[in-house]
Amino acid sequence: MSILKIIEYGNPILREKSKEVTKVSKKIKTLIMDMLDTMYSANGVGLAAPQVGENLRIFVIDVSDPSGPINPLVFVNPKIIKKSGAINSYEGCLSFPKAYTNVRRYANVMVKALDINGRPFVKEARDGELLARAIQHEFDHLDGKLFIDHCRNRFEADSVLKKFNLPPVEVDKLINEEDLEKEIEQYEKEHPEVIEKLKKELEENQ
Ligand code: NI
Repeated sequence: MSILKIIEYGNPILREKSKEVTKVSKKIKTLIMDMLDTMYSANGVGLAAPQVGENLRIFVIDVSDPSGPINPLVFVNPKIIKKSGAINSYEGCLSFPKAYTNVRRYANVMVKALDINGRPFVKEARDGELLARAIQHEFDHLDGKLFIDHCRNRFEADSVLKKFNLPPVEVDKLINEEDLEKEIEQYEKEHPEVIEKLKKELEENQ
Protein backbone atom coordinates (compact mmCIF):
# COMPACT_ATOMS: atom_id res chain seq x y z
CA MET A 1 0.00 0.00 0.00
CA SER A 2 1.21 3.49 -0.63
CA ILE A 3 0.34 7.07 0.04
CA LEU A 4 -0.61 8.96 -3.11
CA LYS A 5 -0.20 12.63 -3.90
CA ILE A 6 -3.40 14.63 -3.39
CA ILE A 7 -4.25 17.00 -6.24
CA GLU A 8 -5.08 20.55 -5.22
CA TYR A 9 -7.76 22.99 -6.36
CA GLY A 10 -6.73 24.66 -9.60
CA ASN A 11 -5.75 21.37 -11.27
CA PRO A 12 -8.18 20.64 -14.17
CA ILE A 13 -8.35 16.92 -13.22
CA LEU A 14 -10.68 17.91 -10.37
CA ARG A 15 -13.14 19.36 -12.91
CA GLU A 16 -13.37 16.28 -15.14
CA LYS A 17 -16.27 13.84 -15.11
CA SER A 18 -15.09 10.42 -13.94
CA LYS A 19 -15.78 7.13 -15.70
CA GLU A 20 -17.62 4.09 -14.32
CA VAL A 21 -15.48 1.19 -13.14
CA THR A 22 -16.16 -1.78 -15.43
CA LYS A 23 -14.68 -4.39 -13.09
CA VAL A 24 -13.41 -4.23 -9.52
CA SER A 25 -10.10 -5.79 -10.59
CA LYS A 26 -6.96 -6.37 -8.55
CA LYS A 27 -5.64 -3.06 -9.90
CA ILE A 28 -8.79 -1.22 -8.73
CA LYS A 29 -8.54 -2.88 -5.29
CA THR A 30 -4.96 -1.68 -4.99
CA LEU A 31 -6.06 1.85 -5.91
CA ILE A 32 -8.80 1.69 -3.23
CA MET A 33 -6.32 0.50 -0.57
CA ASP A 34 -3.93 3.29 -1.55
CA MET A 35 -6.79 5.82 -1.38
CA LEU A 36 -7.64 4.65 2.15
CA ASP A 37 -3.97 4.93 3.17
CA THR A 38 -3.82 8.40 1.65
CA MET A 39 -7.03 9.52 3.38
CA TYR A 40 -5.92 8.27 6.80
CA SER A 41 -2.46 9.78 6.48
CA ALA A 42 -4.05 13.16 5.64
CA ASN A 43 -6.57 12.84 8.54
CA GLY A 44 -9.46 13.17 6.09
CA VAL A 45 -12.96 11.71 6.41
CA GLY A 46 -13.30 11.15 2.67
CA LEU A 47 -11.33 10.96 -0.56
CA ALA A 48 -12.43 10.56 -4.18
CA ALA A 49 -10.36 8.95 -6.95
CA PRO A 50 -9.99 12.17 -9.01
CA GLN A 51 -8.20 13.70 -6.02
CA VAL A 52 -5.37 11.22 -6.57
CA GLY A 53 -5.40 11.75 -10.33
CA GLU A 54 -7.70 8.85 -11.33
CA ASN A 55 -10.91 9.92 -13.06
CA LEU A 56 -12.82 6.82 -11.92
CA ARG A 57 -16.12 6.63 -10.02
CA ILE A 58 -14.72 5.57 -6.66
CA PHE A 59 -14.63 7.23 -3.25
CA VAL A 60 -13.77 6.19 0.28
CA ILE A 61 -15.11 7.52 3.58
CA ASP A 62 -14.44 6.93 7.27
CA VAL A 63 -16.55 8.96 9.68
CA SER A 64 -15.69 6.93 12.78
CA ASP A 65 -14.25 8.54 15.93
CA PRO A 66 -10.50 9.01 15.25
CA SER A 67 -9.67 7.65 18.72
CA GLY A 68 -11.52 4.37 18.05
CA PRO A 69 -11.12 1.55 15.51
CA ILE A 70 -11.23 2.42 11.80
CA ASN A 71 -14.39 1.85 9.76
CA PRO A 72 -13.57 2.31 6.08
CA LEU A 73 -16.46 2.57 3.63
CA VAL A 74 -15.79 2.03 -0.07
CA PHE A 75 -18.14 3.24 -2.81
CA VAL A 76 -17.61 2.12 -6.42
CA ASN A 77 -19.97 3.40 -9.16
CA PRO A 78 -22.21 5.10 -6.56
CA LYS A 79 -25.69 6.39 -7.35
CA ILE A 80 -27.65 8.65 -5.03
CA ILE A 81 -31.13 7.14 -5.15
CA LYS A 82 -32.91 9.34 -2.57
CA LYS A 83 -32.33 12.77 -1.07
CA SER A 84 -34.42 15.05 1.13
CA GLY A 85 -34.30 17.94 3.59
CA ALA A 86 -31.51 20.52 3.51
CA ILE A 87 -28.91 21.79 5.93
CA ASN A 88 -26.00 24.17 6.20
CA SER A 89 -22.77 22.17 6.14
CA TYR A 90 -19.44 23.68 7.15
CA GLU A 91 -16.96 21.87 4.91
CA GLY A 92 -13.41 21.58 3.79
CA CYS A 93 -11.69 19.26 1.33
CA LEU A 94 -8.27 17.58 1.18
CA SER A 95 -7.78 19.33 -2.19
CA PHE A 96 -8.28 22.72 -0.47
CA PRO A 97 -5.75 22.67 2.37
CA LYS A 98 -7.17 24.44 5.44
CA ALA A 99 -10.01 26.26 3.63
CA TYR A 100 -13.52 25.80 5.09
CA THR A 101 -16.81 27.45 4.19
CA ASN A 102 -20.60 27.07 4.52
CA VAL A 103 -22.31 25.02 1.82
CA ARG A 104 -25.80 23.67 1.12
CA ARG A 105 -26.41 19.93 1.43
CA TYR A 106 -29.31 17.54 1.67
CA ALA A 107 -29.99 16.25 5.18
CA ASN A 108 -30.88 12.69 4.18
CA VAL A 109 -29.41 10.57 1.39
CA MET A 110 -29.57 6.99 0.24
CA VAL A 111 -26.79 5.67 -1.95
CA LYS A 112 -26.35 2.49 -3.93
CA ALA A 113 -22.83 1.33 -4.82
CA LEU A 114 -20.44 -1.61 -5.12
CA ASP A 115 -18.03 -2.46 -2.31
CA ILE A 116 -14.34 -3.39 -2.63
CA ASN A 117 -15.35 -6.93 -3.63
CA GLY A 118 -17.70 -5.67 -6.34
CA ARG A 119 -20.80 -6.54 -4.29
CA PRO A 120 -23.76 -4.13 -4.39
CA PHE A 121 -25.00 -2.47 -1.19
CA VAL A 122 -27.30 0.35 -0.14
CA LYS A 123 -26.36 2.86 2.57
CA GLU A 124 -28.61 5.43 4.17
CA ALA A 125 -27.47 8.50 6.10
CA ARG A 126 -29.88 10.80 7.90
CA ASP A 127 -30.39 14.07 9.81
CA GLY A 128 -27.39 15.84 8.33
CA GLU A 129 -24.99 13.37 9.96
CA LEU A 130 -21.37 13.56 8.83
CA LEU A 131 -21.82 10.48 6.63
CA ALA A 132 -24.70 12.15 4.74
CA ARG A 133 -22.59 15.23 4.07
CA ALA A 134 -19.47 13.24 3.18
CA ILE A 135 -21.34 11.06 0.66
CA GLN A 136 -22.61 14.16 -1.18
CA HIS A 137 -19.21 15.87 -1.06
CA GLU A 138 -17.32 12.83 -2.41
CA PHE A 139 -20.02 11.98 -4.96
CA ASP A 140 -19.67 15.49 -6.39
CA HIS A 141 -15.96 14.94 -7.00
CA LEU A 142 -16.89 12.19 -9.49
CA ASP A 143 -18.82 14.74 -11.56
CA GLY A 144 -16.11 17.39 -11.40
CA LYS A 145 -18.04 19.40 -8.81
CA LEU A 146 -16.38 20.89 -5.74
CA PHE A 147 -17.76 21.91 -2.36
CA ILE A 148 -17.27 25.61 -3.07
CA ASP A 149 -19.73 25.29 -6.00
CA HIS A 150 -22.39 24.89 -3.27
CA CYS A 151 -21.19 27.82 -1.17
CA ARG A 152 -23.85 29.88 0.60
CA ASN A 153 -21.86 33.08 0.29
CA ARG A 154 -19.60 33.49 -2.69
CA PHE A 155 -17.75 36.44 -1.22
CA GLU A 156 -17.09 34.66 2.04
CA ALA A 157 -15.82 31.61 0.10
CA ASP A 158 -13.59 33.83 -2.02
CA SER A 159 -12.00 35.49 0.98
CA VAL A 160 -11.34 32.07 2.58
CA LEU A 161 -9.68 30.80 -0.61
CA LYS A 162 -7.59 33.93 -0.89
CA LYS A 163 -6.44 33.56 2.71
CA PHE A 164 -4.99 30.13 1.90
CA ASN A 165 -3.52 31.17 -1.48
CA LEU A 166 -5.99 29.09 -3.49
CA PRO A 167 -7.57 30.21 -6.80
CA PRO A 168 -10.89 32.11 -6.48
CA VAL A 169 -14.39 30.64 -6.80
CA GLU A 170 -15.18 29.74 -10.42
CA VAL A 171 -18.34 31.77 -10.92
CA ASP A 172 -19.57 29.71 -13.89
CA LYS A 173 -19.41 26.56 -11.72
CA LEU A 174 -21.63 27.89 -8.94
CA ILE A 175 -24.80 25.81 -8.64
CA ASN A 176 -28.09 27.66 -8.44
CA GLU A 177 -29.64 26.36 -5.24
CA GLU A 178 -32.31 28.89 -4.35
CA ASP A 179 -34.78 26.09 -3.65
CA LEU A 180 -32.30 24.34 -1.40
CA GLU A 181 -31.68 27.62 0.45
CA LYS A 182 -35.41 27.86 1.17
CA GLU A 183 -35.43 24.24 2.24
CA ILE A 184 -32.61 24.91 4.72
CA GLU A 185 -34.77 27.54 6.41
CA GLN A 186 -37.72 25.18 6.54
CA TYR A 187 -35.65 22.26 7.82
CA GLU A 188 -34.11 24.41 10.56
CA LYS A 189 -37.58 25.32 11.79
CA GLU A 190 -38.80 21.74 11.74
CA HIS A 191 -35.70 20.02 13.14
CA PRO A 192 -34.21 22.24 15.89
CA GLU A 193 -32.67 19.15 17.56
CA VAL A 194 -30.66 18.35 14.41
CA ILE A 195 -29.43 21.94 14.14
CA GLU A 196 -28.43 21.91 17.82
CA LYS A 197 -26.47 18.69 17.29
CA LEU A 198 -24.68 20.08 14.21
CA LYS A 199 -23.77 23.26 16.08
CA LYS A 200 -22.31 21.29 18.97
CA GLU A 201 -20.33 19.08 16.61
CA LEU A 202 -18.90 22.15 14.91
CA GLU A 203 -17.90 23.77 18.22
CA GLU A 204 -16.19 20.58 19.36
CA ASN A 205 -14.14 20.46 16.17
CA GLN A 206 -12.91 24.03 16.31
NI1 NI B 1 -13.23 16.93 -1.31
